[in-house]
Amino acid sequence: MLNVIPAPLCAKEREGKVSFGNRIKISGAFENTASYAKKMLACIEGGDDSKMVFIQDDSITKEGYRLCVDKGKITVFASDETGAFYALMTLAQLSGGESSVPCCEIEDKPRYAFRGFMLDSARHFWSVETVKRYIDLMARLKMNEFHFHLSDDQGWRAEIKKYPLLTEKGSIRRNTQLALYGYNTGKEEHDDKEYGRGYYYTQEQLRDIVAFAAERHIEVIPEIDMPGHMVAAIACYPNLSCRGEAIEVSTRWGVMDNILCCGKEGVYEFAKDIIDELCDIFPGRFFHIGGDEVPKKRWKECPLCQAKIKKEGLKDENALQGYFNNEMAKYLKIKGKRMIGWNEILDAQDIMDTDIVAQWWVNHSAGNFQEKKWMSRGGKIVMSPLSYVYMNHPFHLRPLKKTYSTDERLLGKDAGQGILGLEIPQWTEYIRSEKKLDMLTIPRLITFSEVCWTAQERKDYADFENRLENSRGYFDLTGCPVCPQYLYRGKVKPWYAVTNALKQALWYKDVDYEWKIMKDRL
Ligand code: ACM
Ligand code: ZN
Repeated sequence: MLNVIPAPLCAKEREGKVSFGNRIKISGAFENTASYAKKMLACIEGGDDSKMVFIQDDSITKEGYRLCVDKGKITVFASDETGAFYALMTLAQLSGGESSVPCCEIEDKPRYAFRGFMLDSARHFWSVETVKRYIDLMARLKMNEFHFHLSDDQGWRAEIKKYPLLTEKGSIRRNTQLALYGYNTGKEEHDDKEYGRGYYYTQEQLRDIVAFAAERHIEVIPEIDMPGHMVAAIACYPNLSCRGEAIEVSTRWGVMDNILCCGKEGVYEFAKDIIDELCDIFPGRFFHIGGDEVPKKRWKECPLCQAKIKKEGLKDENALQGYFNNEMAKYLKIKGKRMIGWNEILDAQDIMDTDIVAQWWVNHSAGNFQEKKWMSRGGKIVMSPLSYVYMNHPFHLRPLKKTYSTDERLLGKDAGQGILGLEIPQWTEYIRSEKKLDMLTIPRLITFSEVCWTAQERKDYADFENRLENSRGYFDLTGCPVCPQYLYRGKVKPWYAVTNALKQALWYKDVDYEWKIMKDRL
């Protein structure tokens, strides 16, 4: 099999090689991709040792391509720029960073339309350069949705001009929880250092990231998590919460009782103001409103929330979240956006617009009743099943093989039509360095690209692992090194066995163990 990840639909290797050095003449359709190719292959204009021709062929499906590498000539057929671009990405992998590629013929197209990666920049902040490095890797892997988790209890990371405190104050926390080590004693460890001063993206930087991604056919989906996970914002503007009391940006991880008060009109205005500014920066089709882990404790005690429930004729507090979701979805629709939220938004699905997309991350009870019902009503799901794809967990618990086995049938044998696509998230509570981020993320993102792109009948884990091993040099050259095989196979044994997958404390201890063993070898 040719060394390409994700595996193409159909690939035939032929005798011989085409050497293109830096004397290749690029011509034909798809101006943007052709000029990207010139940059990428660093060609000398006018050189004609070999030729690369882009041809428009409307019989090819959207994002698909045909790539023919013959002696002296490389031909790319596609119906859109994205398909042509993906042919170029395949070519880059085939070259392995060298100046020749094997003669071959490849026909290819994606399995799913939505192929996502999420990065949490709220818990720990990642520089513009790091974000771009990951976006570039995504493009090379033919992934197309970068979900940018920009706010959470522990930090607000996107400049909002109307609410300057969000980044001036909301980006900073007094200290950081290191790990929930003492699950026997209940004691937490914290460092004693302020974190986050200046750690936010200016609107100019966000626009720059969006442009960088667009050049690589990637849409950036901003996430502002609401009405829960809002402590950093409430610390700046206490009136957003039910009690209106002064609180600090959270220094602990987990789920917080303090959430937005959905009984106050001002909260809806605040959320819409944020949406206004971000929609101006992010031109894509989707906007993520989070919606996960929303304890209803405060709402139950709040006269304003209770009055809102009564006024709108809502059944209960879940329905109040559903009402809030609908208000946001309606507003986003006016702006031409489709709303996405984590699967908890389905708790009030009976009153929700099925144009909203639900991102499935954790099992609802009763065999995913809510997700199945949503799909049967015509609603769409993006799959991020925690026990297959969460990258903040140790390889010991989640080796690549497990991630590779992620399948739409986890949501029932007939789930297909309801699945818009898949996304692999990286949460960074316990990831404090870029090398640790790389260790946990790069091999899994590469693996997941094949889950998103490659037709079911073409998937083969053993073959994937061979291609991954043979592509190490290529990923090194792109600045995205893959950790050793014995780590991604989960062979670095922790000093105890995890017996209960719910003991998150142990997961993070295992990650730390793997990191301790590996960090000097990466
Ligand atoms: C999540 O992991 N709370 C979506
Ligand atoms: Zn309230």
